[in-house]
Amino acid sequence: MLFQIKSYINFLWYSKNQHGVHSPFVFDLVTKCFYDKKNYPEYSILKNYGNSLLENKNTIEVTDFGAGSRVFKSNTRAINQIAKNAGISSKRAALLFRIVHYFQPKSVLEIGTSLGLATSALSLGNKNAKIITLEGCPNTISIAKNQCELQNLNNIKFVNTKFEDYLGNCQLNTEHCQLIYFDGNHSKKATLDYFELLLPTITNDSVWIFDDIHWSKDMEDAWEIIKNHPKVTVTIDTFQWGIVFFRIEQEKEHFVIRA
Ligand SMILES: C[S@@+](CC[C@H](N)C(=O)[O-])C[C@H]1O[C@@H](n2cnc3c(N)ncnc32)[C@H](O)[C@@H]1O
Repeated sequence: MLFQIKSYINFLWYSKNQHGVHSPFVFDLVTKCFYDKKNYPEYSILKNYGNSLLENKNTIEVTDFGAGSRVFKSNTRAINQIAKNAGISSKRAALLFRIVHYFQPKSVLEIGTSLGLATSALSLGNKNAKIITLEGCPNTISIAKNQCELQNLNNIKFVNTKFEDYLGNCQLNTEHCQLIYFDGNHSKKATLDYFELLLPTITNDSVWIFDDIHWSKDMEDAWEIIKNHPKVTVTIDTFQWGIVFFRIEQEKEHFVIRA
């Protein structure tokens, strides 16, 4: 916790808004997407989705694959507590929706479905996109699947798998993951492993979003390695997320932006 507070103070010191951003690509993204104040009708679907989970006090047996929970001591967990602690916040879900809406990727890969809060934002951002979402815990993904069906989100393929198994064995290519949301195992090794496994899929239009880049020293180390990778050009640190672009026409440049 102390680590995150220090990181956040550092972020506040270095971060800026659109002023002083000289890259037209990033300036447009910040002004037309991050700071887009339009009240999209999809926000009410996201809100309903979140509220119905937050009101659900049923418990499920969870299989934990991640870097370990800092909150839960037992694997029998109430759905509303999972939604509160592991799921994306409503403000972030709205931003994720806007990012997908802005870039209109044809395909999206989410690594870490949990209860599908972010999945619903990814799906609503472009209803014509093909979404694949990966989750190791069968009970959790089954709730996400039901919940998305209730909201008529029909462009999602739910895959119950260990990330390593799926990413190591499957034949993902550029057509499957124009935008990737990495929100699973928040450890340095796993983050860098997934980064390397998915590198063959990149195109000029790829957008990769890494969640919780300041969660730990380990994750900050992973973020530094990703930023410095020769294939990576522009990166944006929004504190919660590290957003990565591979656009060859862009100079290598790292932005720290309040989103
Ligand atoms: C932080 S949660 C995802 C939250 C979700 N994206 C959202 O915003 O609502 C991470 C999920 O990844 C799953 N997970 C972590 N490591 C995994 C692994 N190695 N294989 C499969 N699933 C894993 C966990 O079970 C957990 O549900």
